[in-house]
Amino acid sequence: MKKRIWILTLFPEFFEPLLKCGIAGQALRGERSEENFSFEVHTINIRDYSKTKYRSVDDTPYGGGPGMVMRADILRDALVEGVMARGGYSDLSELHVVFPSPRGRVLTNKVARELATGPLSDPGKDVVFICGRYEGVDERFLEKYVQDYISLGDFVLTGGELAVMTILDASVRFVPGILGNKLSSEADSFEDGLIEFPQYTKPREFEEMNIPDILLEGHHKKIGEWQLEEKIRMTKKYRPDLYEKYNKT
Ligand SMILES: C[S@@+](CC[C@H](N)C(=O)[O-])C[C@H]1O[C@@H](n2cnc3c(N)ncnc32)[C@H](O)[C@@H]1O
Repeated sequence: MKKRIWILTLFPEFFEPLLKCGIAGQALRGERSEENFSFEVHTINIRDYSKTKYRSVDDTPYGGGPGMVMRADILRDALVEGVMARGGYSDLSELHVVFPSPRGRVLTNKVARELATGPLSDPGKDVVFICGRYEGVDERFLEKYVQDYISLGDFVLTGGELAVMTILDASVRFVPGILGNKLSSEADSFEDGLIEFPQYTKPREFEEMNIPDILLEGHHKKIGEWQLEEKIRMTKKYRPDLYEKYNKT
């Protein structure tokens, strides 16, 4: 099965490095796939669907105020002509349309996993991301065509592209078959409400600092206990907010 991801953006070139590099790039190029499952990413330039004289995609906001707003009709055409017609979809229900926005649920591992095990692996749906720019998008387009809002946090980006890349990077690792060793995502930060334990590699001595003796003893049960203690210690030190929640549960 080919899982198609469509990205509507004014800057398709933003996505070139994401598609070129690392595990997420391999996955999104369709090169890390389980039998019968791979990704295929298509970027669509919203400007190609503007019928205005200067190919503009935005206009001044009704009611006044600073900045410009992306037009609903042009975004609709990009979705209907650029995605639905080209992709051979007959109904909007075949797509899960995501708009990264400060109004969305905040991206966490839980949200990334929900996206990965839901729309990103559901055989009946493909996924569309809309990248906002300027002051945002005409609300009528969002109301009619968007099903999911995801935020990176309580700050304002200049556009949705970095948000889409972050959402994809965080999610594809949870799609079955993408991370070589499933255990590595399970041991990652946040999976049990704690951040990761400290990691060490060669050289054994670095600027007069040694690695903890316990890691050299080969006693897996003791190493596991040490790792948990370290996770608790590191969380208390670096993320007291998480530690408080962990302690309560
Ligand atoms: C300059 S922002 C618009 C901000 C908007 N006027 C507001 O006050 O919420 C342009 C676009 O960047 C994206 N964006 C901005 N902040 C974001 C965030 N925290 N998470 C996800 N996307 C964001 C959205 O797609 C937004 O439409």
